[in-house]
Amino acid sequence: MNILLIGSGAREHAMARAIKRSSQNHELVCIGTNNNPGIMSLSSTLTVRKVTDSSAIVNYAEEHNVDLAIIGPEAPLETGVSDALWQADIPTIGPKKELAQIETSKAFARKLLTKYHIPACPQFRVFTQMKGVKKFLQELGENYVVKADGLMGGKGVKVSGEHLQSHKEALEYCKKLLVKDGQFVLEEKLIGEEFSLMSFCDGKNLAHMPPVQDHKRAYVGDEGPNTGGMGSYSDANHLLPFLTREDVNQAQQFNEATIEALKKEFGMGYKGILYGGFIVTTNGVKLIEYNARLGDPEGMNVLAILESDFVTICWAIVDGTLTQEHARFSNLATVCKYAVPEGYPDSPVKGEKIDISKVADKAQLYYASVESRGDELFEAGSRTVAFVGIAETLPKAEAKAEEEISRVRGPLFHREDIGSAELIRKRVEHMKALRK
Ligand code: AMP
Ligand code: GLY
Repeated sequence: MNILLIGSGAREHAMARAIKRSSQNHELVCIGTNNNPGIMSLSSTLTVRKVTDSSAIVNYAEEHNVDLAIIGPEAPLETGVSDALWQADIPTIGPKKELAQIETSKAFARKLLTKYHIPACPQFRVFTQMKGVKKFLQELGENYVVKADGLMGGKGVKVSGEHLQSHKEALEYCKKLLVKDGQFVLEEKLIGEEFSLMSFCDGKNLAHMPPVQDHKRAYVGDEGPNTGGMGSYSDANHLLPFLTREDVNQAQQFNEATIEALKKEFGMGYKGILYGGFIVTTNGVKLIEYNARLGDPEGMNVLAILESDFVTICWAIVDGTLTQEHARFSNLATVCKYAVPEGYPDSPVKGEKIDISKVADKAQLYYASVESRGDELFEAGSRTVAFVGIAETLPKAEAKAEEEISRVRGPLFHREDIGSAELIRKRVEHMKALRK
């Protein structure tokens, strides 16, 4: 079978590995935005071009006799690459454009959940003018969040006490968003611990993945600017140290209800991955946002312990025959750490050479924003390489990830604290104090 993979980051490198682990032999072709050496070594071709150009991608897929396409990032979902591929009779993993609005419009997501009585939202309102904004801010008091509606790579959300210090600052940001997008979401700030719960979906049935916790802030101790995610961990028992089984069940039910709501709303099934960004609060589990794809880095955590066949899961999604048994994960803990360019995320160095030769276990090293030229590797300006430590326990997985990511040489940095006993203890105590 010929499989087309769209995207060329570390998440897609993990997907390429999962495809190649399949019991059947598949030919892999890839379209991405950079010459990812990891994906290049696994595929017969990696073509560098825009991943959002539907007709060019369909042409490419037809030229390569592609039987199945898999979309990694959100940008092609927004431009309707999935619609165009299905139109050309190429089964595709990744929702069509209308369904992908669950990620591409925060206003749409909040309104959909409200319409279908899914009790996962904080207090919120969508505004298309400034009338009533001041009053709603006063109702929310000190705990408010202002969100740009569309895809902003994590940079469109401003939280009170962090990015916004007063109602005056919040109002100014709201005005800016109105001029830019014509609408924005204003909502209650939720207090608790965040986690990601991703599910494979065939339009009707879901197969859930273990929960993962990502780390958005750039520096140790959750300091510094927000990033795409500096690293993440999952636990051997498929819970997280601060979560109960009921919390996870609740998040799974929200994903199930949302897939059903999308089906009712558009009369077509969501075929791909639904990623709930949740937060557990004293009022139970709430939704921060939905994404329409695998998380990056979270996708690396879960695919690293996926025991069953990734390609078989993809076909079950296409055929509408997905069951939880399709997605079996081993009972191992994982810790993923990214090495990122000095200056990331605001002014990352670019074009500098890196050296990975000292990394002992290359099988769990994932390439992201890397350019290969000859035998040499260069930083391409964003998160560079990631390592996933896998072990029976979190401390062992953390030690492995820390040891290996430290062996990557070049003008890079990583967060030493991700998955550490100290940071996890802080999370658990935070949750304990809140639940009291
Ligand atoms: P998003 O792009 O929606 O994932 O938001 C980025 C980050 O902003 C999240 O990971 C949260 O840390 C924070 N955030 C977003 N919405 C809320 C909310 N309602 N309450 C508290 N924090 C939030
Ligand atoms: N881990 C954050 C994201 O994939 O959006």
